[in-house]
Amino acid sequence: MHKVILISGSPRQDGNTMDLIRVAAEEIEAAGCETQIVSLAGKNIRACRACPNCNGSGRCAIDDGANEIFAKIAESDGLIVGAPVYFGTARGDLMNLLQRLGMYSFRHDNFLSGMVGGPIVVGRRGGHTATIQELLMFSFICGMTVCGSNYWNIVYGKGKGEALADEEGVATIRKFARNVATTILKTRG
Ligand SMILES: Cc1cc2nc3c(=O)[nH]c(=O)nc-3n(C[C@H](O)[C@H](O)[C@H](O)COP(=O)(O)O)c2cc1C
Repeated sequence: MHKVILISGSPRQDGNTMDLIRVAAEEIEAAGCETQIVSLAGKNIRACRACPNCNGSGRCAIDDGANEIFAKIAESDGLIVGAPVYFGTARGDLMNLLQRLGMYSFRHDNFLSGMVGGPIVVGRRGGHTATIQELLMFSFICGMTVCGSNYWNIVYGKGKGEALADEEGVATIRKFARNVATTILKTRG
């Protein structure tokens, strides 16, 4: 069965990012794909050291759990990345993971290329657009097929649970997730 990995880039296990990732996963499962959620809560994902290791031994030299996440993604058809907005950008730990993932993919047959997905962004008030653009820069250079929705994948909310009250935001995420599943089923064999 086709599989989609969904990453919650928040340190809060049951925060807004995770709520939206669960909404997306529900839609994708309903459309007929398998999902697996990966949370960065409790992890401490460090920044790329620009060492040659992922080209040599194959593993990322930093043993902080990222290698295990890369392995899951490499065997999947889709990747959705959820980010809380921090100071107008995606949270640092998440960008640490993505920058290492991008380099790891380049050095492992470009496995992200052709994978289907895109970003989901949640914040209290501002910086969503810059954050979604930041995440799209990652997706496009890695050759991913990014799906759209009825609006950009941005949702408003601060305290736990608030994002689910943003009805238009949640509907946008649902439509995006369905588009991801449909595109996978049409294009990934
Ligand atoms: C360090 C920090 C910086 C933040 N910066 C922004 C910001 O620039 N713009 C914004 O709209 N919200 C900002 N927020 C609010 C979070 O994006 C918002 O609470 C979001 O829902 C958190 O997602 P989570 O519940 O998944 O952790 C910030 C929160 C923190 C902790």
